[in-house]
Amino acid sequence: MTDTYLMDTYARMPVAFERGEGAWLFDEQGKRYLDAVAGIAVCSLGHADPVLAEAICDQAHTLIHTANLGHIRLQEKLARALVELAGMERAFITNTGAEAIECAFKIARKYGHGRGIATPKIIVAEGAFHGRTLAAISASAPGKLQAGFTPLVEGFIRVPFNDADAVSAALDAHPDAVAVLLEPIQGEGGVKLAAEGYLTALRAACDRHDALLMLDEIQTGMARTGRWFCHQHEPASKPDVMTVAKALGNGIPVAACLARGAAATVLVPGSHGTTFGGSPFACRVALTVIERMRGLDLPAHAERQGNRLRERLQMRLEGCSRVLAIRGCGLMVGVELVDSAMDVRAFAIDQGVLINVTHDNVIRLVPPLIIDDEQTDRIADVVADGILAGAAHE
Ligand SMILES: Cc1ncc(COP(=O)(O)O)c(C=O)c1O
Repeated sequence: MTDTYLMDTYARMPVAFERGEGAWLFDEQGKRYLDAVAGIAVCSLGHADPVLAEAICDQAHTLIHTANLGHIRLQEKLARALVELAGMERAFITNTGAEAIECAFKIARKYGHGRGIATPKIIVAEGAFHGRTLAAISASAPGKLQAGFTPLVEGFIRVPFNDADAVSAALDAHPDAVAVLLEPIQGEGGVKLAAEGYLTALRAACDRHDALLMLDEIQTGMARTGRWFCHQHEPASKPDVMTVAKALGNGIPVAACLARGAAATVLVPGSHGTTFGGSPFACRVALTVIERMRGLDLPAHAERQGNRLRERLQMRLEGCSRVLAIRGCGLMVGVELVDSAMDVRAFAIDQGVLINVTHDNVIRLVPPLIIDDEQTDRIADVVADGILAGAAHE
């Protein structure tokens, strides 16, 4: 199934999907798969949502793109909706996660320059993943992401994840550190959750140093963890800057960098922009996604189904020596194995359940948030069967 006209950038699974319906995907041969990947935490409303499809058609017949030369009322409406959901003040609407992160970097640097700091630095976490642009890989975990791409972008200080004292020490040691950036749950890094109190401690440390707390909610946002945004599990951890993407468009590229306080006003005409970002089309999609998620009460549903998924996995895998940990929050669930999970992925695909593996040994389950009880149980059962089958062969 190799297409030699494509650059060889992905290690693809041997499958090609043709259509989807709710939490189901159908391949070229018509085989049905229960989707526990959702385009990597993107299609939270599932596939071919009829309300979204209707809005897409209507907007395509009305207006797709104008560029940010005049006012875009749907962009203003989306900014307001996001700001209200997140308790922030202003939004920059863009296209992809990496672009939202780039906007956050630029806000942090300009905020630093405004404070008279010539070489502003951003504190980032070990194991982080923030995207694939040069700046984003420079902020992400060293290793294969960065290999071959030096010189990297300067100005990042790396500290261990889940160690608030390390962040405080870095802020003390580097008076030019102007921001702290991290994911509330490291997704690509292996579904690693911020420990209770960690984000709140970082908020306090940033306040003590006039540094910006910047949270990357690209994967954890938009109801996935049982709240609109993951940090809302810990109310005293509200960030100054926050990035959103992935599920915001349910598959149509749309992203946002939200800010409040001093961070909300550092960008001015000429300091940042995008051709495609915030088009009437993308904003209509995102507004429809938010409305639909609200109507379906997806934050509460994700919390319920996530608990169900984890409890069933725990029950089925109790005592299995192949399992190091089952963890997660809402419908962002990781099962860490002692060995490679690639056999489990192959087993699941064979059984008609699509799962994702990160770090080779962590099964990452990020299904559409609309999944029902039966689908949740099927995902847990097939994953457990796959793990147990592999364990039996050892
Ligand atoms: C936490 C996080 N940040 C940033 C990104 C980059 O987003 P995109 O692929 O839309 O550029 C991702 C993508 O997986 C992500 O998970």
